[in-house]
Amino acid sequence: MKMDVLLGLQWGDEGKGKVVDVLAPQYDVVARFQGGPNAGHTLEFDGIKHVLHQIPSGIFRENITNIIGNGVVLDPVILKKEIEGLHKFNIAFKKNLFISKKATIIIPTHKLLDAAYEKSKGDKKIGSTLKGIGPTYQDKIGRVALRVGDILSPDFKEKYQGLVDKHKTILSFYDFDLSQLAELEATFFDAVEFFKTLNLVDSEYEVNTYLKEGQRVLAEGAQGSLLDIDFGSYPFVTSSTTMAPGACTGLGVAPSRIGEVYGIFKAYCTRVGSGPFPTELFDEDGEAMRKEGNEFGSTTGRPRRCGWIDLPALKYSIMINGVTQLFMMKADVLNIFEQIKVCTHYELPDGTMVDRLTYELDSVEVKPVYQTVPGWNQSLADISSYDGFPKELKDYVTMLEEALEVPIKLVSVGPDRKQTILR
Ligand code: GDP
Ligand code: IMO
Ligand code: MG
Repeated sequence: MKMDVLLGLQWGDEGKGKVVDVLAPQYDVVARFQGGPNAGHTLEFDGIKHVLHQIPSGIFRENITNIIGNGVVLDPVILKKEIEGLHKFNIAFKKNLFISKKATIIIPTHKLLDAAYEKSKGDKKIGSTLKGIGPTYQDKIGRVALRVGDILSPDFKEKYQGLVDKHKTILSFYDFDLSQLAELEATFFDAVEFFKTLNLVDSEYEVNTYLKEGQRVLAEGAQGSLLDIDFGSYPFVTSSTTMAPGACTGLGVAPSRIGEVYGIFKAYCTRVGSGPFPTELFDEDGEAMRKEGNEFGSTTGRPRRCGWIDLPALKYSIMINGVTQLFMMKADVLNIFEQIKVCTHYELPDGTMVDRLTYELDSVEVKPVYQTVPGWNQSLADISSYDGFPKELKDYVTMLEEALEVPIKLVSVGPDRKQTILR
């Protein structure tokens, strides 16, 4: 059996949580492979809205195994809160949540370091979620991090202290106030005790055994391809491999085992945090998108920057991920527009037209070149099939498919599970 991968093609918040929840009944296993509590994946069903940060989005479906893979950085404090927040749903965590012993642990000083690094960058800050993601991945690659399996070892406290001492040296260089540390540590160790009661496993064996037995596995990406550590708008990126190969290294699955790659994108664009965003709107259209799409961060509550769809960026993400199917989200947010703009190229300062995201592009001001198409300008609320779509929306889908050369197999027309149109 192959493992399918679902990932965001833009700057995150494309609607991955919603779609994983919608697709989950077609799978036996849902697995997160990278990122950590910087993610905020929203699910809506039966009048309930819920945001998941570290727990995979298959958790609300019965009989689905959810795995947090080795590529994830995990905050025990946030995980405890997340699990407690789900108590009212009577989820059998013992039965359906498994965590890799090789996942990396976020400790309190990682969050302090994140804050210190951001502060030192001044107006060049990344706009990090301040969840400690960058410093934790730094320690992982630097071969000094703590892993989930370490919490079971009798010398965990010494290992922890060794790492904290290193962090304190760095924090003193930044003249960082450590007065809150003792309180953060008390909460951390309390959460670690809770963590020990969860299923901590060598999840690479589990995933590969499931695949061998013919079970269907869906890998759930976090963030988006344009925030990828290698191919995103560096340095305004996150610190993990958000692309499809991240599902191999983050779960221990061979590249030959990858099946479908579902690429998910909004019918427009958003970005939260700093960094280039060629189609960003600073006018009333941008404001209207933010309002209509409720574009405020699921993790930090920050207003998301909004703009028109960007085809060069989407083509790039499709290329580096080998996307086999596209899912278009939040089509309903564009209901309000009589005309819709589609960025087909960028104009460089010297007048040259390009449609590639080259290395140089990150450091120059580019002007988006738009094609304007008619909007459908009507509600999609009562539509339950693709045939029922207004002509202008069908034309929009066809135009994007032709430009992107990958079929759009799903169109989302609202945040609820049911507001999903399959083709
Ligand atoms: P994720 O991080 O990719 O899972 O996305 P987020 O949950 O951070 O942000 C997506 C937001 O859009 C959430 O508030 C969803 O409830 C909402 N959403 C998802 N699909 C649709 C849609 O088709 N239409 C509308 N209006 N909202 C949607
Ligand atoms: P989901 O999974 C949108 C952004 C931050 C910042 C940059 C680095 O919900 O799509 P980090 O905390 O990772 O060091 O921040 O990445 N960012 C996200 N933006 N959605 C996310 O996750 C994000 N996770 C991180 O805003 O610009
Ligand atoms: Mg999100």
